[in-house]
Amino acid sequence: MDGNGRWAQQRGLSRLKGHEQGAESVRAVLRAVRQAGVRYLTLYAFSTENWIRPKDEVEGLMNLLSIFIDRHGKELLENKIRLRVMGQFDRLPRTVQKKLAQLMEKSAENYEYTLILALSYGSRLEIADAAKAIARKTARGELDPETVTEETVANHLYLPDVPDPELMIRTSGELRLSNFLLWQLSYAELYVTDVFWPDFREKEFFQALEVFGRRGRRYGGVVTK
Ligand code: IPE
Ligand code: MG
Repeated sequence: MDGNGRWAQQRGLSRLKGHEQGAESVRAVLRAVRQAGVRYLTLYAFSTENWIRPKDEVEGLMNLLSIFIDRHGKELLENKIRLRVMGQFDRLPRTVQKKLAQLMEKSAENYEYTLILALSYGSRLEIADAAKAIARKTARGELDPETVTEETVANHLYLPDVPDPELMIRTSGELRLSNFLLWQLSYAELYVTDVFWPDFREKEFFQALEVFGRRGRRYGGVVTK
């Protein structure tokens, strides 16, 4: 979700206003996801690198997250959306941690869709954490290093049971991965749009799905259709 700041700047508004409109886009995309029957949505809401932003903006974003849960938590439950979080949970403000934990627990069963929030998330850190976990197991003699495969690494990532994304959408025209799901995106289709995140709504989401549907995915093999 990129371009909140530029969206606001274009209108002479504060960056926080851009983030507020961005939160509305989250709701719109969640509606579209349910309509389309997409079962997993991961939103890159805050990266490990975002902590270096001015204190006011970081606080504003955390506050917005808190407000979002208060206002729309019930709606998520009613719509059978399970909430999960990936990233450095402990670095988030205590109040935000509590609200997230409550909603994760309440939505853990009876769900059809999964919303994953990447919060204080960095992909290299995730892979390093997986390496650490594997190293610990080998040091304790629980795992033979010779048996470590791609699957072993995948099984030690933050959410090993979540399937790899099929489509990665990046808004605001940036052509970067920005440390997002580097391992998991190996075979994902990439879709980049110039639209700023606060303007990315149902219509834009369906457009992305449409383009995705026309791509021929071969996974390194040959064309079959
Ligand atoms: C993305 O919008 C929102 C978050 C990182 C939370 P930006 O804040 O990066 O917007 P730009 O890139 O300054 O336009
Ligand atoms: Mg940005």
